[in-house]
Amino acid sequence: MKKPLENCTFVIIGATGNLARTKLMPALYHLYVDDLLPKDIHILGIARSIADRKEWLAELKTDLKERARGGLDESIFEGFCRRLDCLRSGLKTKEDYRLLSDYIGQQKFSNNIAFYFSLPPSMYASIATSLSEVNLLTEDQGWRRVVVEKPFGSDLETARNLQRHFERYLKESQIYRIDHYLGKETVQNVQVFRFANLLLEPLWNRNYIDHVQISHAETIGIGSRSAYYDGIGALRDMIQSHLLQLLSLVAMEPPVSMQAEDLRDEKVKLLRSISPIAKGAVSSHAFRAQYAAGDVKGNAIKSYLQEDNIPQDSVCETYAALKLYINNWRWRGVPFYLRTGKRMKEKHSMIAICFRQTPKQFFRTSQVEQFKPNWLLIGIQPDESLRIELTVKKPGLDMKTKVISLDASFNDEEGRDGYEGLLLDVMEGDHSLFLRADEVEASWKIIDPVLHSWSSQQDYIQTYPAASWGPDEALRLFEKEGQYWRSSLEPE
Ligand SMILES: NC(=O)c1ccc[n+]([C@@H]2O[C@H](COP(=O)([O-])OP(=O)(O)OC[C@H]3O[C@@H](n4cnc5c(N)ncnc54)[C@H](OP(=O)(O)O)[C@@H]3O)[C@@H](O)[C@H]2O)c1
Repeated sequence: MKKPLENCTFVIIGATGNLARTKLMPALYHLYVDDLLPKDIHILGIARSIADRKEWLAELKTDLKERARGGLDESIFEGFCRRLDCLRSGLKTKEDYRLLSDYIGQQKFSNNIAFYFSLPPSMYASIATSLSEVNLLTEDQGWRRVVVEKPFGSDLETARNLQRHFERYLKESQIYRIDHYLGKETVQNVQVFRFANLLLEPLWNRNYIDHVQISHAETIGIGSRSAYYDGIGALRDMIQSHLLQLLSLVAMEPPVSMQAEDLRDEKVKLLRSISPIAKGAVSSHAFRAQYAAGDVKGNAIKSYLQEDNIPQDSVCETYAALKLYINNWRWRGVPFYLRTGKRMKEKHSMIAICFRQTPKQFFRTSQVEQFKPNWLLIGIQPDESLRIELTVKKPGLDMKTKVISLDASFNDEEGRDGYEGLLLDVMEGDHSLFLRADEVEASWKIIDPVLHSWSSQQDYIQTYPAASWGPDEALRLFEKEGQYWRSSLEPE
C-alpha cells in the first residue's frame, strides 16, 4: 500500500502550450477523477497569453471535452476547477518573479512545490536561475522539485552546460528529467517480462539473439512544429531520448533492486558500454533521409521542404537509423538497430528481437523449407502487445510448417496515458522513471559523432516518398543479406 501523497502545489510554466493542453492538464484531470491527487493540491498555470481565469478554464473545458476518458463529467470538472489557479506572466523580469513568489506565498498554497518547465528548452536555464533568486528552489519549508521536458540540451556540450547550470541551483534529487516513453505501460512491462520470467534469461544474450530492432514510426509530418523541428531532426528528437531508453531497458543487466538509483545505475552502465561510433565509420552505422511528396489513397502529401517555414536547402532528417554494438559479455557482436521516421506508412513503435537460426535443418528430405528464425515482438503503440513467433507443423499429412504467434498481449484496460503515472511519481518523489544526469550525458555521447558528421554534410540528403517505410538504402546498415526492418507484429 502506498502512503498518501503529501499536499503540494503543482506549477505548470507554459500552461497554454501544446504539451500542457494535450497531456498535462488531461493527466491531472484523470488523476483527480480517480481521487489520486493530494487532497488539497493547487495547480497553478502560468503563461503570457492567459487572459483571465474564466477564459483559461473555458479553454480547459473545451480541451477536456475532447480528451477526458469516458467524457467530461460537469460536476467533477467543477471540483477540479477549485484546485486550479492561473497567473499571466512573461516570467522575464525580477518583478515577475517577485510577484510569482508572493502569489505562491499565499496561505492556501502548500510549501511543497513542483515546477513543471513546459516551455521552449532555451528557457530552462534562465527560469531555474530566476526561481532560485526569489528563493523558490530552496527546500527550507517544504520540498521543491523541477520537472524538465526533453530535450535536455541539443548535443553533448549543451547538455553538459545546462547540467552545470542546474547544479548551481538544484540538487540532483530535485530534478526530474522526463521521458514520457518510460511512463508507457508496455515499456515498464519490458522490465517485468525480462526479470519476472526465468524462461527468457538463458536466451537473452549473444549466444541466442541474432539482432534487435527498435523502431518508432509516425504517419504524421512535422505539422506546425517547423520552428522546433528543423533545428532538431529525428536523431535528436527520438533516438537520443526514447529509443536509447528502450535499448537500455532491453539490454541492461538485472538491477540490484527496482529502486530508482539501482535501476538508473544499470541503465547508465549499459549506455556506457555502447561502442562509440568512430568518425570514419558514421556512414556504416547511421543513415538519414527526409520525406519527399507522396500520396495516401489519392490524397497528395507535401514534402518536408514544402512544409511551412522550412528553408529550401534544409537537410534536416525526418528519418534516422542507427546500428549500435554493446561491448559487454552479454551482447558483444549483436547489432542493435534503431529506426525512426515521420510520414511513414503506418504508425507503430515496437521492439523486435530476432533469434538465431536453429543449428541444423532436420527435415531436409521433406517439404519443409528453411526455418524462419524465432522473433519476440513487443508492441508499444498503437498495439500494446507481446508476441513470440514459433514454427509449427501445419496440420495435415504432409510435413509442412507455418509460423504462429503466441500472443501474450495485455490490454491496458484503464487506458491511462504515461504522463499520469509520471506526474504522480513527481509528487511522490520517485525518480525511477526519470533520467539521471549521467544517463542523459551517456546518451548524447553515443549520438554526438553522428550529429557532428551530419552537420558537416549540408549539401545533400536522401529522400523517401511520404507514406512509405523509408528508403531501401537504409537496409545497408544490416549485417546480413536478407535481413529487413520488421514493421509488423503479424507473422511475415
Ligand atoms: N508537445 C508535446 O507533445 C511535447 C512532447 C515532448 C516534449 N515536449 C517539450 O515540452 C516543452 C513544451 O512544449 P510545447 O509543445 O507545449 O510548446 P509550446 O506549444 O510552444 O508551448 C510553450 C509554452 O511556453 C509558454 N511560454 C513561452 N515563452 C514564455 C515566456 N517567456 N514566459 C512564460 N511562458 C512562456 C507559452 O505560452 P505563452 O506564449 O502564452 O507565454 C506556452 O504555454 C518543450 O520543451 C518541448 O520540447 C513537448
